[in-house]
Amino acid sequence: MSYLNLLNQLNLTQRPRRLRATEAIRKLVEETALRKSDFVFPLFVCEGESVREEVPSMPNIYRVSIDNALRECEELQTLGIIAIDLFGIPKEKTDDAREAYNDNGIVQRAIRAIKKEFPDLCVMTDVALDPFTTHGHDGLVRDGKIINDETVEVLCKMAVSHAEAGADFVAPSDMMDGRVGAIREALDGEEFIEVGIMAYSAKYASGFYGPFRDALGSAPKFGDKKTYQMNPANSDEALREIALDIDEGADIVMVKPALAYLDVVRRAREHFHTPIAVYNVSGEYSMLKAAAANGWIDGERVMMEMLLSMKRAGASLIFTYFAKEAARLL
Ligand code: PBG
Repeated sequence: MSYLNLLNQLNLTQRPRRLRATEAIRKLVEETALRKSDFVFPLFVCEGESVREEVPSMPNIYRVSIDNALRECEELQTLGIIAIDLFGIPKEKTDDAREAYNDNGIVQRAIRAIKKEFPDLCVMTDVALDPFTTHGHDGLVRDGKIINDETVEVLCKMAVSHAEAGADFVAPSDMMDGRVGAIREALDGEEFIEVGIMAYSAKYASGFYGPFRDALGSAPKFGDKKTYQMNPANSDEALREIALDIDEGADIVMVKPALAYLDVVRRAREHFHTPIAVYNVSGEYSMLKAAAANGWIDGERVMMEMLLSMKRAGASLIFTYFAKEAARLL
């Protein structure tokens, strides 16, 4: 007996392959699409002039001085990317992180210069103390502990100084309790009611941040970040963190990292009606670059597949070092 008969007897009416038969049909029934406007490009700004240093563990990603940051923005705009997230490398790190809210600090000057030349570009700014503290923690430290409430006070000053310089969104990535509400009050108190908050709400204590800490020279000098960043084992807790931040006034909430946490993105999408961002972090970028450089995977193809998976999981926007490369392919 031929096994073909088995299928004939089944009288198959459902043949899902019909929807994959040609490129046109596949396109017609495509559920998710990437757009250039989904991307936010993280930009590392440092002191000096004409500086453009490649981050060793992140091929094609540079630390740039403000003059070159303007050039980057020009390129981004030409490619159709509409948003950046600024990270500063200050000239001085101190225990009290005072450079973080210096009106004349690296980030504040970069915001002014960028908004002057590219008023339509959406400028977001990282709000956390790690690049500005000697010890590399996101908050102030007393007796070996990261102290919450005093840190929030500094974060408020930092957020207000970014708003004063012209930031469209401040993006607290520190994971201190109550900081979103406090920053919202501080901004409103200074009449910055239009400046938004993009909250890193579910940020995990992750090994995927390694290359970023190289880029900023911000690896913690003692201990780890587990008393403030989340345990990778938890996702109910992520929903609680997101709910709190929305309640405190976050306009956009984030899940970070992206790839290993797409289940969290999906759960968040189903629970909340607030835009959800994901951060396709440095380690995810470096892994792909390393494998592609070795010829082990097709870099472009896997990049697009990764980015698409984030949209499919439910992300509304994607912070990614791939923004330029992906935009070129779209
Ligand atoms: C710091 C911050 C980190 C990242 C964004 N903001 C690192 C950390 O928490 O140690 C990681 C970004 C990346 O890995 O690309 N507040």
